[in-house]
Amino acid sequence: MLFHLARPALFALDPERAHRLTIAGLKAVPRGNPARSGKLAVKLAGLEFPNPVGMAAGFDKDAEVPDQLLGLGFGFTEVGSITPRPQTGNPKPRLFRLVEDRAVINRMGFNNGGGAAAKRRLEARSNGGGIVGVNIGANKDSEDRVADYADMTRMMAPLASYLAVNISSPNTPGLRALQDEAALTGLLDAVLEARGKNGPPVFLKVAPDLQPADIDAIARIAIDKRLGALIVSNTTITRPELASRHAGEAGGLSGAPLRELAQQRLADFRAATGGAIPLVGVGGIATAEDAWARIRAGASLVQLYSAMVFEGPGLPRTITRGLERLMKRDGFSSIAEAVGTA
Ligand code: FNR
Repeated sequence: MLFHLARPALFALDPERAHRLTIAGLKAVPRGNPARSGKLAVKLAGLEFPNPVGMAAGFDKDAEVPDQLLGLGFGFTEVGSITPRPQTGNPKPRLFRLVEDRAVINRMGFNNGGGAAAKRRLEARSNGGGIVGVNIGANKDSEDRVADYADMTRMMAPLASYLAVNISSPNTPGLRALQDEAALTGLLDAVLEARGKNGPPVFLKVAPDLQPADIDAIARIAIDKRLGALIVSNTTITRPELASRHAGEAGGLSGAPLRELAQQRLADFRAATGGAIPLVGVGGIATAEDAWARIRAGASLVQLYSAMVFEGPGLPRTITRGLERLMKRDGFSSIAEAVGTA
């Protein structure tokens, strides 16, 4: 309720300022405890997720508030993307609220405080409990991007519940070329070697703007390399019809207009993997019904970001309560039972 009272004031601010204020506000509240495992618990890649609803990467880029986010009822949170060296990102403005479309366009460009600072914060909370994934990226000016991912893997492996290899941001020129078959194989070999035998599971985050041949190749590689999961998907560079005056801004589009595309890609990856690799569904999820449809299409977990901008911090609990109801309505006794049954 407080959020709905404060929303007009937040929306009157520049979106990036509003975001900074939100992070500062979260820092000021007590950490809260991670959600408890119950009916919605999901076992995946050797981890037990208390519920399947996670905070997507990009909200807590510098690992400033993972415990506060877990305290809101998320089953897990993914910090980052984090690059080895700090970088300022693209010139401002670079974040746009498309209120009429319930969408966001961003071209942040991996602004983050770098690996060492995030590592110190994660070390300080290392017995905080809960599932905290670390999403890793490469510096824009890096001469060896594969080495960046390997360095980040070595640095974060001891602190991450899972590592998410992000090769799908549209805002670092050339990054998405790492989704090509040969490049991806080389990248994952380097990451898996850097992770070592006892390191955390490796997830791979892909773009929604992929052709069928890319999807098949990525699915094959994911199975071959025994990845922990595929995260489908990042923001889109396509532009479905939009009403907002910001519709023409360059960058990645997220929120409601991404929902259908992300749902379709999830179904494509389910078909291409035949269920051999768990999937994390992201993109345009704003309600329990959206989350449930993604699970029925093949997602074992879901994540969201943009809907939090419009709905506020009560959203994870609204969705988990709704999921319990939908699971019961459709006669399933666990999330795992419902995955891919659509
Ligand atoms: C993102 N996203 C993102 N993803 C990622 O892997 N690394 C990142 O640094 C970021 N940064 C980022 C910033 C902003 C402002 C937004 C809105 C999004 C993508 C995000 O994790 C997610 O994949 C998409 O936003 C789609 O989900 P929603 O927002 O439609 O629920």
